[in-house]
Amino acid sequence: MARIAIIGGGSMGEAILAGLLRSGRQVKDLVVVEKAPARARQLSTTYAVQVTSDIADAAGHAGYVVVAVKPTDVAQVVTEIAAASVKGDDGIAEQVFVSVAAGVSTAFYESSLPAGAAVVRAMPNAPALVGAGVTALARGRFATPEQLREVAALFEAVGSVEEVPEAQLDAVTAVSGSGPAYFFLMVEALVDAGVAAGLTRSVATDLAVQTMAGSAAMLLERMDRDRRGADGALPGGIDTTAAQLRATVTSPGGTTAAGLRELEKGGLRAAVAAAVESAKTRSEQLGITPE
Ligand SMILES: NC(=O)c1ccc[n+]([C@@H]2O[C@H](COP(=O)([O-])OP(=O)(O)OC[C@H]3O[C@@H](n4cnc5c(N)ncnc54)[C@H](OP(=O)(O)O)[C@@H]3O)[C@@H](O)[C@H]2O)c1
Repeated sequence: MARIAIIGGGSMGEAILAGLLRSGRQVKDLVVVEKAPARARQLSTTYAVQVTSDIADAAGHAGYVVVAVKPTDVAQVVTEIAAASVKGDDGIAEQVFVSVAAGVSTAFYESSLPAGAAVVRAMPNAPALVGAGVTALARGRFATPEQLREVAALFEAVGSVEEVPEAQLDAVTAVSGSGPAYFFLMVEALVDAGVAAGLTRSVATDLAVQTMAGSAAMLLERMDRDRRGADGALPGGIDTTAAQLRATVTSPGGTTAAGLRELEKGGLRAAVAAAVESAKTRSEQLGITPE
C-alpha cells in the first residue's frame, strides 16, 4: 500500500491521520510533517506515528502527499515538495498530490510541481475532526479518474465524499465549509429561545442539539432510501427530501406551522441565501492561483 505523507499536523492534518488509522491504515504507511516541535511530540505520542520536520524526506518516499498547512504556507511547502518529487521514466511525477488548503487552486500546484503532476483538491469540513465530515474533491488537469477514486477512499476515512468541478469549490466552501458555523449559530439561537421560553440552559441545549442530530439522521436515512429506490421512498428525488420531511412534521393549524410562519416572516430563507452568496464571494476573493 502506498505511503501517505501528511504535510501539516494541525487540526485538519490530525483529523485525516486519525481517520486513516481508524479505517485500518497501518502506522508504517503514514508519516506526518509538522514543524512545531511541541505539536510534533504530541502527535507522535498520541498516534505512535512517524513525525518529522523534513518535508523532502517524507514527500520523497510517499505515494500520496497531502498538503494540510494554512493557505499562506502552501507556496513554501510546495517548493520543497517539488524538489523531492519522484519522477517516472517519462519525467512525470509518480505521486498524487492532494491539497486541503482552502482557496489554493490545482493550477497553482501544477505550476509549481513538475510538469504533468496529478493534483486533487479537497474541501473537507470541521466535522471531519469527529469522522463525520463531508469532503468535496476536484481533479486537476492531470489527475485520472482512478487517482480521484484513490483519494476519495482516503477522505472516506473522515466522512462522506462528493466530486465536483473545481469551479464549484467556492460554492462548496460557502455551503459545507462554512455550514457548521451556520448550524452552531442556529443551535445557539434555539437554546437562547428555549431559555426565554422557561427551560434551563442545560435542558434547552440537550433538546436543541439532539433535535439537530436526530433531524439530520432522519434526512440521511430518507436520502439513502430515495437513492436506493427502496419501498416507501418518496417520489421527486433527494433534492426535495427536506421539504417533504418538513411537510410531514407540520400538522395543519398546529404548533410547528405557527413557528415556521415566524421563521419565514423573519426572512430565514433570504438570510441563508445571502450568507452563502457572501461566503462564496469571500472564498473567491481569498483564492490563490498562479500569477
Ligand atoms: N480545520 C478545518 O475545518 C478545515 C476545513 C477545510 C479546509 N481546511 C484547510 O486545512 C488546512 C489546515 O487547516 P488547520 O485548521 O489544520 O490549520 P492549522 O491548525 O494551522 O495547521 C497547520 C499546521 O501545519 C504546520 N505547518 C505550517 N507550515 C509547515 C511546514 N512548512 N512544514 C510542516 N508543518 C507546517 C503548522 O505549524 P505552525 O502552527 O507552527 O505554523 C500547523 O501545525 C488549511 O489550509 C485549511 O484551509 C481546514
